[in-house]
Amino acid sequence: MSDLGAYLRRYIRDIPDYPTKGVVFRDLTPLFKDATAFRSAIDGLSGRFRDLKIDAVVGVEARGFIVGAPVALALGTGFVPIRKPGKLPWRKRSTSYKLEYGVESMEIHEDAISSGQKVLLVDDLLATGGTARAAAKLIEEMGGTVLGMGFIVELVYLKGRDMLRDYRVESLVRIE
Ligand code: PRP
Ligand code: HPA
Repeated sequence: MSDLGAYLRRYIRDIPDYPTKGVVFRDLTPLFKDATAFRSAIDGLSGRFRDLKIDAVVGVEARGFIVGAPVALALGTGFVPIRKPGKLPWRKRSTSYKLEYGVESMEIHEDAISSGQKVLLVDDLLATGGTARAAAKLIEEMGGTVLGMGFIVELVYLKGRDMLRDYRVESLVRIE
């Protein structure tokens, strides 16, 4: 792992048996709370994709918003939210996906991505890859191209990358 990754790891708190027995939850709130760590994570993540000339950054509710919006500003793009069901007011597309600890749905406004747009998907953490794959499917159905996926943390032992083989995946902190 990079020096940045080792530095950021110190701000991630491990919580055993949350939200269910056997899951070790990686809590990023200490990282978000620290101005220097938070800025380092945003700079580090946006730096990995600066060469790609991204048109839009997409983030998945809720923690994907915390990371996605500042990455969008750093790359000079707008931000597109993918939300949990029932939150978006206009015409939308939706899909269901599996999580490490349950099943969820997500929605995006039908005009949020235009055909041919180059998209970066950003989230706080990659676990099984189900969320990212579902989000990429929505973006692609709308004609967007997912040029990259960026995460602060990757739980390597859950093998999320195996689900995301078609994409360029970058993470700052790899937890083995
Ligand atoms: C977490 C995390 C990612 C996703 C990763 O969000 O922020 O979006 O799970 O898991 P996966 O790789 O197995 O799909 P969660 O759905 O818990 O929602 P939250 O952001 O609202 O807390
Ligand atoms: N931490 C935070 N978010 C998560 C985790 C975790 O361990 N697994 C799936 N989403």
